[in-house]
Amino acid sequence: MKALVITRLSGPDALAVQDVAEPAVKAGQTLVRVAAGGLNFADFMTTKGGYPGTPVPPLIAGREFCGVEENTGRRVMGYVQWGAFAEKTAGYSSMLWPVPEGWSDEQAAGFPVNYFTAYLGYWQGGMTQLAAAGRTHRVLIHAVAGGVGTAAVQIGRLLGVEMYGTSSSDEKLARVSQLGLQHGINYKRHDYEEVVKNLTHGEGVDAVFEMLGGEHTAKSLRCLRDFGRVIQYGTASGKAPQLDLRAMYAKSASVQGLWLTYLSQKREIMEPAWQQLSQWCAQGRLTPQIGHVFPMDRAVEAYKLLEEGKNYGKVVLKIA
Ligand SMILES: NC(=O)c1ccc[n+]([C@@H]2O[C@H](COP(=O)([O-])OP(=O)(O)OC[C@H]3O[C@@H](n4cnc5c(N)ncnc54)[C@H](OP(=O)(O)O)[C@@H]3O)[C@@H](O)[C@H]2O)c1
Repeated sequence: MKALVITRLSGPDALAVQDVAEPAVKAGQTLVRVAAGGLNFADFMTTKGGYPGTPVPPLIAGREFCGVEENTGRRVMGYVQWGAFAEKTAGYSSMLWPVPEGWSDEQAAGFPVNYFTAYLGYWQGGMTQLAAAGRTHRVLIHAVAGGVGTAAVQIGRLLGVEMYGTSSSDEKLARVSQLGLQHGINYKRHDYEEVVKNLTHGEGVDAVFEMLGGEHTAKSLRCLRDFGRVIQYGTASGKAPQLDLRAMYAKSASVQGLWLTYLSQKREIMEPAWQQLSQWCAQGRLTPQIGHVFPMDRAVEAYKLLEEGKNYGKVVLKIA
């Protein structure tokens, strides 16, 4: 079968479409004929050896996909750690979900990582519960026009959350405002800490979805209101998160990690999340934002789009 192979851990240029053996199916797994794969920032980090647990190359790239389960003929969307960008992949049944009615292969391939991560961000931020009477939950979402960002805006709208979101581009922000983002902040022109402070009359937000690292972790902490939480789920800047302990003491604030790779192994967390997400999908209230579709043999371009932060929403690879 054809697969996108990471031949060396030296960045996207070392990706190559190659003929490889079909995957061995382990107990609890089924074989899926893959139609499309969702590209994640983690896939880019993996090509540079920057993702925890990356096996020694050569290895097949890709962590999420849409396809047809061979033994049932069912259309599924799935989550694996490696091996999704291939004509066939083996997925654990607990990590395969039925494709919602009317969704394209590309939309389904762009669902698992973005929507579970965004939903669990709200869950960890205490915002899947109703806010106290007379109070509205507020969130600041970094990279709001990206894959996780656009999912977070759709979910935040359904949860009734007041949303602030950052991007480098007015054009991207205009598109996200169509999804329900109330306060778009172009960080090239404005300091998001100042904007949040001014628009919330000095109070701050209940949670920040923080995936930048470096100085942004400390700045995001200063955007919190009392008992607020920074949900740290990435370090796209490549810099270690700076912690501002004074800001934590000042507002009884905290920083929590969120890693889907780890949480996805916990059924007691994933099943209630899917129950809620699938209900919204069935009601037509979630629509994965597919910004770019590339054939697998142009994967290098797709990866570079993410590397350069030029994408809107999800980047998808056509596999079959
Ligand atoms: N912990 C987890 O389980 C988990 C799960 C999913 C994703 N993540 C993390 O969440 C982040 C977003 O992932 P994604 O796949 O949805 O990607 P994405 O948001 O679709 O793409 C990355 C976006 O981040 C912004 N950005 C800001 N600084 C950047 C930089 N130095 N380099 C590249 N982009 C930069 C860019 O948008 P603007 O130019 O508009 O700012 C870019 O479009 C990543 O850090 C990823 O590792 C973590």
